[in-house]
Amino acid sequence: MSELNKIALQILSNGKGILAADESTATMTKRLDSVKVHSDENNRLLFRQTLFSSPSMSKCIGGVILYDETIRQKTSYGKTIPELINASGSLTGIKVDKGAKILAGSKDEKITEGLDGLRERLRDYYKLGARFTKWRGVYLISDKYPSKLSVSANAHALARYAALVQEAGMVPIIEPEVLMDGHHSAKDCLTKTSEVISKCYEELELYKIDLSGTILKPNMILPGKDSNEKISNDEIAGLTLECLKNNVPSSVPGIAFLSGGQTEIEATANLNQININNNTDFIMTYSYGRALQQSALRFWSKDINNIVGTQKIFDHRAKMCSLAAQGKWSKNIENTK
Ligand code: 13P
Repeated sequence: MSELNKIALQILSNGKGILAADESTATMTKRLDSVKVHSDENNRLLFRQTLFSSPSMSKCIGGVILYDETIRQKTSYGKTIPELINASGSLTGIKVDKGAKILAGSKDEKITEGLDGLRERLRDYYKLGARFTKWRGVYLISDKYPSKLSVSANAHALARYAALVQEAGMVPIIEPEVLMDGHHSAKDCLTKTSEVISKCYEELELYKIDLSGTILKPNMILPGKDSNEKISNDEIAGLTLECLKNNVPSSVPGIAFLSGGQTEIEATANLNQININNNTDFIMTYSYGRALQQSALRFWSKDINNIVGTQKIFDHRAKMCSLAAQGKWSKNIENTK
């Protein structure tokens, strides 16, 4: 078993998943504005260190993805943030892309930037304690999108990123996100997501990536946010599994879904059903941002010094996600707090 495969399995095994706390300062400011908390370095640190020191970290969170600001911060009691995360047995990850910018040649679409100087930045992040990384490619979906250009350019960037990350001794999370926005059907989401994922693996193969030392972070197969289609958790699970079974090579150890705008309960229920129906060898777990943090953030915003209360809310969500990653979640358990 390679070192990178060991790291990937440590993050994903035993009902654990990933806490995506890598919101850029601009995105975190939006999240804090929405609950009327001032976004400054201290408040961003306070919320995050509250989550990272929660009791559920050791059982439910195998890895935490950080943003550049956070990986360099010290907690108010002196430990660095990576030290705090590692103390619970969880691994530190880092978002290394520099965001999605307008794609020349198809101006509605975006290409993720950040390859220039990446080799040097990775060395720095490794020294700071990172053992895995994230890069997100983002795709519009409609009749004409994603364009061939966007599918190809983003897959190329993801593969170049993955090669540099493995060279630096870390596990790359490959995140091709087909957005939920739009009127499209779940079937369209299946077709387009399949095209996107299959192109990613074509490029990853070209760059000789050790797939056993990678994690895929895809969207689930869902109808568009503005579509009227009603679809059950079971159907979502079926389509999602079909997509992954047909397009992800079997040497990939695990898949950690993004929540992408689903509510906490939707993201939990869908992951649970995916695991109940799982007819693949992939570990199926979570790499949630909003679906792990939303309720905790709302609670915390009412009294930012109520650490224990905030942790209780986060712990419940993390436990529910962990049960879902094992196909053991139910509405009854959800409601017994
Ligand atoms: P969400 O779960 O809120 O979609 O965030 C996950 C993530 O890291 C998106 O890049």
